Amino acid sequence: MLKGKHIVLGITGGIAAYKSASLVRLLVKAGADVQVIMTPNAKEFITPLTLSTLSGKPVISEFFTANTGEWHSHVDLGLWADAMVVAPATASTIAKMANGVADNMLVTTYLSAKAPVFVAPAMDLDMMRHPSTLRNISLLQSYGNHIIEPAEGELASHLVGKGRMEEPENIVKALDTFFEKELSLKGKKILVTAGPTYEKIDPVRFIGNYSSGKMGYAIADCAAARGAEVVLISGPVSIIPTQPSVRVVKVESAKEMLAECERAYPDCNIAIMTAAVADYAPTEVSDKKIKRETTGIDSIALIKNPDIAATLGSKKKDGQILVGFALETDNEINNALEKLGRKNLDMIVLNSLRVAGAGFRTDTNKISICYPDNTRTDYDLKPKTEVAEDILDAVTELCKKD
Ligand code: C5P
Repeated sequence: MLKGKHIVLGITGGIAAYKSASLVRLLVKAGADVQVIMTPNAKEFITPLTLSTLSGKPVISEFFTANTGEWHSHVDLGLWADAMVVAPATASTIAKMANGVADNMLVTTYLSAKAPVFVAPAMDLDMMRHPSTLRNISLLQSYGNHIIEPAEGELASHLVGKGRMEEPENIVKALDTFFEKELSLKGKKILVTAGPTYEKIDPVRFIGNYSSGKMGYAIADCAAARGAEVVLISGPVSIIPTQPSVRVVKVESAKEMLAECERAYPDCNIAIMTAAVADYAPTEVSDKKIKRETTGIDSIALIKNPDIAATLGSKKKDGQILVGFALETDNEINNALEKLGRKNLDMIVLNSLRVAGAGFRTDTNKISICYPDNTRTDYDLKPKTEVAEDILDAVTELCKKD
């Protein structure tokens, strides 16, 4: 998967920089075109000569070459890269990347890079677990960067703990897996619904629910990152996709969501129904604000909303894959399986409101995926971005069976 890929390898000033030589060697062996950028401190740990010999390219460290005045364009490098890898990434460089402190060639290139970025931290165990490091790492994750977690073991300080840079072989493996996944949904059109629906009562009030849209947006982003053409039909939420290629269609009510889904569905290979659609809508919508003192009401008459997933399920063509979600408080598996059958789904993602950290408004989720043949896979509690990866892995497997 790395054949012909342009990799910018950023090396920072940590003792693990000695492993960068093997990393360059392995990347080049796998067919990648490697451009090394070193921070000034990295040169204290490993020489540019070693790295330029192994990569076959002069190492870049400064903004320009002093004797010729030749400028090294971080913008061009950022555009050239298919991936940028920072290994080892010290606490200091991670902090600079997280906060946009562009005082060297490596961080300026990082800020200009359009390609996916992989960060392999390496530092002493106490630095690694310091709240400032943890916060900066989670900031990088929130920008969509991939963290290659450091391993546990003996450190340069002779202390034992978490902070050893991941072995070069595993960094190469992580890149390889990424590029394999990046292509896994290429050519597929995917429809994702997300967020709540708002069902109008009057011009200032609605019936809605607590859905934040985070799960659906994470799925849309992940699918786009894997090469799919994504249309995201979203109820009212305050987030935006991180992948610029995701086409967002904003709707408010279940009826509007259904209309947009019916428009998009015939052309889609896959539809993933993440939205928390309101089950009912007011029978009548008042065009004026209902006033307690004058027009006040004691109750609101409701009418059942259309079931979008079931409607799409009834129109499903051969080869289309339809995925539903179930948020249950009791009798979870049976309820999920009943929905799977009734809505003609190919898989249903179950999240239980009984699990702390799962469901609405959280950044994490714990899911089980149930299939029509009654098989099931249970997953650990993890960030919604990683849950999205699991769901799309499962969808990709279904595509292969088709
Ligand atoms: O029946 P229930 O609401 O639990 O089903 C959940 C699944 O069905 C989710 O995938 C949700 O997006 C979808 N659904 C829908 N339209 C509705 C209700 C639910 O698409 N009116």
